Amino acid sequence: MLHSALINVMVKAARRAGRSLKHDLNEIEHLQVSLKGPANFVSLADKRAEEMLYTDLAKARPGYGFIGEEGGTRDGTDKSHTWIVDPLDGTTNFLHGIPQFAISIALQREDTIIAGVIYNPANDELYIAERGKGAFLNDQRLRVAGRRKLNECVIACGLPHIGRGDHAEFRAEMIAIQDKVAGLRRFGAAALDLAFVAAGRLDGYWERNLQPWDIAAGQIMIREAGGMVSGIDGKDDALRSGHVVCGNEFVHGELVKMLKAAGK
Ligand code: IPD
Ligand code: CA
Ligand code: CA
Repeated sequence: MLHSALINVMVKAARRAGRSLKHDLNEIEHLQVSLKGPANFVSLADKRAEEMLYTDLAKARPGYGFIGEEGGTRDGTDKSHTWIVDPLDGTTNFLHGIPQFAISIALQREDTIIAGVIYNPANDELYIAERGKGAFLNDQRLRVAGRRKLNECVIACGLPHIGRGDHAEFRAEMIAIQDKVAGLRRFGAAALDLAFVAAGRLDGYWERNLQPWDIAAGQIMIREAGGMVSGIDGKDDALRSGHVVCGNEFVHGELVKMLKAAGK
């Protein structure tokens, strides 16, 4: 399938960094692991992948800015374009040999995300989206699930762990939602949670306290697959707030209502 030059650049970079991650996954026991913060591990694999992504993206589009989870912000001369990159989303899974992790690359033009690529090298699933051109999984066009009965819906969430987030708030939200749906899931890689909603595998997803690199590529994936993504209150910008809720129009609306009620 033919994609734009921009998508080709992003895919090539994701695949090269993906080969490196896959290699490191196989040798996980030899990786040196350092503690970045409470319960937040970062590996050499992670840093190596980000440097590869930076090198490839900067070579193809000199001047674009770059925001990466590991290396922070690198300003470019072109102030209107910025790459937003998580070189390894799902670090905890990766370190445990669980093949649910991904590279997430988005391109922001001014205030709008115009392209996204999410790649899981463990199973070679490649998600791409470009503004106005649709979303695809390994070249299959994506569409969010159409379910309109909550008791048939499978919903994913983020589960705050030790040292992260508001655990009581999460439990209240979980109780409100688990009573009404067919299943709750916690997979541990936000970019893939969003991609799974775009692919119609999950009906919806919510999580608080994420970072722009967790959300940016997945957000355009869902919108291009016909779904809705917002902050938890249904209005604010998830990229700014870091809190995200998504699904088809119906599921998104129901999740927003339940989350609001849980907060009372
Ligand atoms: C994490 C994952 C996880 C989410 C965390 C994120 P990382 O990203 O997306 O699913 O619950 O909040 O920080 O640290 O593995 O890149
Ligand atoms: Ca992440
Ligand atoms: Ca990461």
